[in-house]
Amino acid sequence: AVTAVIVVAAGSGERLGYGMPKAQVPLGGETILMHALRGVVASDVARQVCIAVPKGDTALRALIAEFTVDLVDGGPEISVVDGGTSRADSVRAALAVLEDGTEFVLVHDAARALAPERIFERVSEALAAGAKAVIPTLPVVDTIKTVAETDGADASIAPEVVTGTAPREQLRAVQTPQGFELATLVRAHEAAGLFDEKQAAAVTDDAMLVELLGVPVHAVRGASQSLKITTPLDLIIAEGLLEGPLG
Ligand code: C5P
Repeated sequence: AVTAVIVVAAGSGERLGYGMPKAQVPLGGETILMHALRGVVASDVARQVCIAVPKGDTALRALIAEFTVDLVDGGPEISVVDGGTSRADSVRAALAVLEDGTEFVLVHDAARALAPERIFERVSEALAAGAKAVIPTLPVVDTIKTVAETDGADASIAPEVVTGTAPREQLRAVQTPQGFELATLVRAHEAAGLFDEKQAAAVTDDAMLVELLGVPVHAVRGASQSLKITTPLDLIIAEGLLEGPLG
């Protein structure tokens, strides 16, 4: 089946505190984006790779151009689009330029720069086996609770109060690449285009849009190396992974 990979790299990276788009932040002597792209290409699942970069960016575009030149013959076709203000907007911008005949699409966060090849393969295999949507997940180690802002007199005690505890054995931490039948993901994003601002702000991955359509989302095992590099601590962990077992 013809598969495309969308790499979303249009975030600001504010939480990392480097004052540059996160995808451009150095990791193991390269950039976060280059690690992510090398993983995608090494997995050999994609005919086309479309990368969403921040609007107005030139540095990432230059890096991608260099990467494209170095690709051996028979590698995927690489394209670049301007991302949007939200992650979902960036995904929609990339969906709009996928080639005719594309059957499956994997959406991957550039921030998960060290996602192993086998996860791309595992997700692609589930699609080939008939899934319309598939996500890599890991069990959670922490107990997860829901909270609400405290109001009234209790506000002087603590800012939040617990409203519930989800049963941990049913919880999963969700990673990327998330894989979809292209037609299903397009339909899910069309529906999301009608969301109001509050609903749109609550969208944190693609699978949740597919869930809202009532289409089953299948879960395969993810990998701890696929951590999302978000904070300075994550960057230290990623550097450590490159020096150790992955280096
Ligand atoms: O902000 P968040 O951690 O959810 O970002 C996840 C991924 O989505 C990152 O790789 C980031 O570059 C990307 N993103 C994007 N466009 C945005 C916001 C985030 O491509 N407007």
